[in-house]
Amino acid sequence: MSQTDAAALYVILLGPPGAGKGTQAVQTAAATGLLHLSTGDMFREHLRNGTDLGNLAKTYMDRGELVPDDVTISMLLERIARSDAQAGCLFDGFPRTVEQAQALDDALSAQDDEIAVTVLIDVSNDEITRRLGGRVSCADCGSVFHNIFNPPDESSPCCDNVNMIQRDDDKPEAIANRLQVYADQTEPLVAYYSNAGKLSTVNGEQPPAAVGDDLLEALQAVSS
Ligand code: AP5
Repeated sequence: MSQTDAAALYVILLGPPGAGKGTQAVQTAAATGLLHLSTGDMFREHLRNGTDLGNLAKTYMDRGELVPDDVTISMLLERIARSDAQAGCLFDGFPRTVEQAQALDDALSAQDDEIAVTVLIDVSNDEITRRLGGRVSCADCGSVFHNIFNPPDESSPCCDNVNMIQRDDDKPEAIANRLQVYADQTEPLVAYYSNAGKLSTVNGEQPPAAVGDDLLEALQAVSS
């Protein structure tokens, strides 16, 4: 599947923290040419750049709370209005509330587009706790690994096991709160997209490559 001559394709990756949305988004964006947009990455970039938005977001992210809808929605809508998003996007970590989903629907509808499919990466809470507890990323390039399930290998030559860092919100208290916030505020989106006939579910408790194959199959079904 290539985006070169295709109609715009807007796809959402939905799932609890640690389900593998970022891991799959990077692979799927490379395979399809879709632009990968992660609101978590956008907030972390603001934080690295020392912006007011980054400092505000950090106060929520460190506790595992959601950044307020008005802030998140305006950041995301500004991003998708740029020219490189006009062929479509792979949303990772957005929307996370029904209000965000409605704002995205309205913005796409205003340009005669719509969400093609929302793919739920289904993973149990026990597995998530194991994954987030072992997640590390390369201090140089930001690539994400797991120190047991997905360690760096020869395909990522800049990354080694020495120069790895852990996210502040991967501490046990923050993980528990993120799971509760997901259940309270984000899980209602499963019904939201299911009722719209736009939900596809993949089993996230398979090796990353198998999850990726199922995800590509779900995208093929809506883009062919
Ligand atoms: P964000 O960065 O979006 O975090 P998240 O949704 O909590 O998701 P994660 O990045 O933790 O997990 P993931 O699903 O991407 O999994 P990954 O691929 O890394 O958001 C962070 C914070 O920003 C939020 O808490 C909130 O404060 C704020 N925020 C962001 N968006 C917002 C929004 N829209 N509204 C309001 N606030 C917002 O994988 C996890 C680990 O598992 C890795 O170690 C990986 O190597 C491993 N792994 C992946 N796949 C597999 C597999 N198949 N088998 C074994 N291990 C695997």
